[in-house]
Amino acid sequence: MNANKVVLIGAGMVGAATLNSILMLNLVSELVVIDQNVQRAQGEVMDASHTTAFAYSSGANIRVGTYADCKDARIIVMTAGPSIKPGEKMDRQILAQQNAGIMTQVMSEITKYTQDAIIITVTNPVDVVTYLAKTRANYPGNKIFGTGTLLDTARMRQIIAQQVGVDSKNVHGYVLGEHGNSAFIPWNLVDIAGVPVDQLDRAFHMKAPIDKEKVFEGTKSAGFDIIQLKGYTSSGIAMSVCRLIKAIILDERSILPISVVLDGHYDTKNVALSVPCVVGKNGAEHILEVPLTSEERRQFKQCAQNLTDILGKIS
Ligand code: 2OP
Repeated sequence: MNANKVVLIGAGMVGAATLNSILMLNLVSELVVIDQNVQRAQGEVMDASHTTAFAYSSGANIRVGTYADCKDARIIVMTAGPSIKPGEKMDRQILAQQNAGIMTQVMSEITKYTQDAIIITVTNPVDVVTYLAKTRANYPGNKIFGTGTLLDTARMRQIIAQQVGVDSKNVHGYVLGEHGNSAFIPWNLVDIAGVPVDQLDRAFHMKAPIDKEKVFEGTKSAGFDIIQLKGYTSSGIAMSVCRLIKAIILDERSILPISVVLDGHYDTKNVALSVPCVVGKNGAEHILEVPLTSEERRQFKQCAQNLTDILGKIS
């Protein structure tokens, strides 16, 4: 295995943004792009390759490839498949049947060459896609996970940071459950410098307490708001993928909320949902059971039920 080789499947808007963000990470030595539209992949690769002469971009070998490139890949990132368009129903689940089929095909290609690479799924609805990819291909559970609510968590941290007036990196907490309409925020786990969310106004001399409802709604609608404004989302998700790649390549054992197939965790089975996981060189190395209130456990169960219902309808 090439310790620093990444294969990127899909050269659409998300794939292209991810390609460029990965180069800025400076951690990857070989970056291979696969797309059924080979011409598009060639264009993205050529464009991206012109960044490598600049000091802040890595000198990675970037090229268009085939699934055979998965053989010695360390990480495979799956972004292929259609995404929600402006004006469509604002629910990622509308893509379930189509993208489940695409993911199943992609997994049958990948598994001809490897069971060792860590696969990061990005394609929506990411929880459905992750679950089907793992179970249909019988891929090792720690080695396949979705970006899940890592992006929602970044959005929540940014919105709170803006209300408080501090760096979003100092805002801790998670959005959990579905990367979608039933996601929820366990507020007891949100703090800045150890100050719980309900005491932030006093500690940071704010005019009013954090408006939790506004934070929650802003977090949940962010993806759809961006789609209405620019047609697609790309920058935030690209950096979410990079955060995961860095945690794997540097064996950081960082705790990140990602979509993993649950096997009794949080009393839940047979679905993929986002929970905090330790991410290191072996992928999702440990699924953490964080303390949730009984209402939050109910919300988690609701996410699981939604996902089970959707999975039941996919052929
Ligand atoms: C996002 O949240 C649409 O899932 C995509 O940016």
